[in-house]
Amino acid sequence: MKILGIETSCDESAVCLIEARGNFDKDFHFQILGNSLISQIAIHAQYGGVFPNLAKREHAKNLVPLLEQTLLQSVTSCQGDALPKKIPEELQILLARERALYEKLTVFLHKYGKPEIDSIAVTIGPGLEPALWVGVNFARALALVWNVPIIAVNHMEGHLILSMMEIQPHPNYSQILKNLRIEGSMRRIQFPMLALLISGGHTELVLSERWQQYKILGATRDDAVGEAFDKVARLLGLPYPGGPQISALAKFARNDADLTQKNAEKIKLPRPMLNSGDLDFSFAGLKTAVRRLIESEGLTLLRSDLETPLRSDIESDLDAFRMQVAREFEDAVTDVLVGKTMKAVDEYGIQTVVVGGGVSANSYIRLLLAEALAKAGLPPPLVPAPGLATDNALMIALAGYFRALNKEFADPSELRANGNLKLV
Ligand code: KG4
Ligand code: ZN
Repeated sequence: MKILGIETSCDESAVCLIEARGNFDKDFHFQILGNSLISQIAIHAQYGGVFPNLAKREHAKNLVPLLEQTLLQSVTSCQGDALPKKIPEELQILLARERALYEKLTVFLHKYGKPEIDSIAVTIGPGLEPALWVGVNFARALALVWNVPIIAVNHMEGHLILSMMEIQPHPNYSQILKNLRIEGSMRRIQFPMLALLISGGHTELVLSERWQQYKILGATRDDAVGEAFDKVARLLGLPYPGGPQISALAKFARNDADLTQKNAEKIKLPRPMLNSGDLDFSFAGLKTAVRRLIESEGLTLLRSDLETPLRSDIESDLDAFRMQVAREFEDAVTDVLVGKTMKAVDEYGIQTVVVGGGVSANSYIRLLLAEALAKAGLPPPLVPAPGLATDNALMIALAGYFRALNKEFADPSELRANGNLKLV
């Protein structure tokens, strides 16, 4: 079965075409036929976070070129002209709603015929609603013209399912963009399974006792963990997205014995809700605590030091301070994530732990979780292949494939974006 995946929930516009066969526990295998992604990180970085309407505009600009690139990479033939002489009224209404897409899409549809695909999988949520709608309307227009079914995909299920995949050859970003013949299969999953989903918008512990059935055991009460990484990075004068930046600085600090000793007792952060007795999280307090640390050091300059060059004598102190805060922040976040995950493992007799979402790229969290699981006699957590932790359309195509096997098709005219969509 060939599935076209479309992802526009946040700041990555992505399209991916896969061919897949089998089922979760029976000979599952997939191959990427075409894959394209445009990250808007550089555009949002100047504002220190993602702006929904800017994201929407960029998705509208990116989707048609991404689709064209993806189809050209694949061997899927799509010659001819898919648009009838008279454009159906339903399509006209739809395209009128997405004016920014309209022109490019009509040119595209005149240039190419229907590709050989079986269905279109699109992220309907959770995420930024204006951004999600672009992908949803794009998928609806394509489904209408090509007469193929649509599958509504939950973005978080996409992260979860991608983490379960054994992928070969091990891709990285550039390879996947060059479209090596990447293939994958299902790793061994034993139920009950626990998913720790950590991204820019989510922090959730999810129990799964059967394929595609989920129960949320705990979630963040305020900021998501990725959001906390991004906000703390901003306080420290580091660019967006903050996760990889903080992680790199923390690693430096851990490898430097002097730095680890110096001020160690002064630079301390709380472990919010670690012993709250439930499986919920809270990360907003950590950000406030970091702000206080910065202020207590008289370093209010941090926020703007990217633009304002600091005096060199402060600079070295500042660098050391920044590294130590980064390390203590990553330690605090990791303690809480690992602590809560192990509590859930214990309470629910978990056999397999899966970690998904952008923050699952963090090697320190992976390492400490693997150590804690080993102590409990469990295998290491399943994590996404390199380059695939952050948003992409492969995960959407994969999650869509398994839903297509159940024939869970959506009615295109009823399809809606839902920024707060929950896993059930
Ligand atoms: O899943 P994702 O691409 O987008 C959402 O669905 O939110 O996650 C993006 C988040 C950002 O907050 C980014 O800072 C974080 O993932 N992130 C990391 C790392 N790489 C990305 N956080 C911690 N450590 C990393 N290595
Ligand atoms: Zn995501």
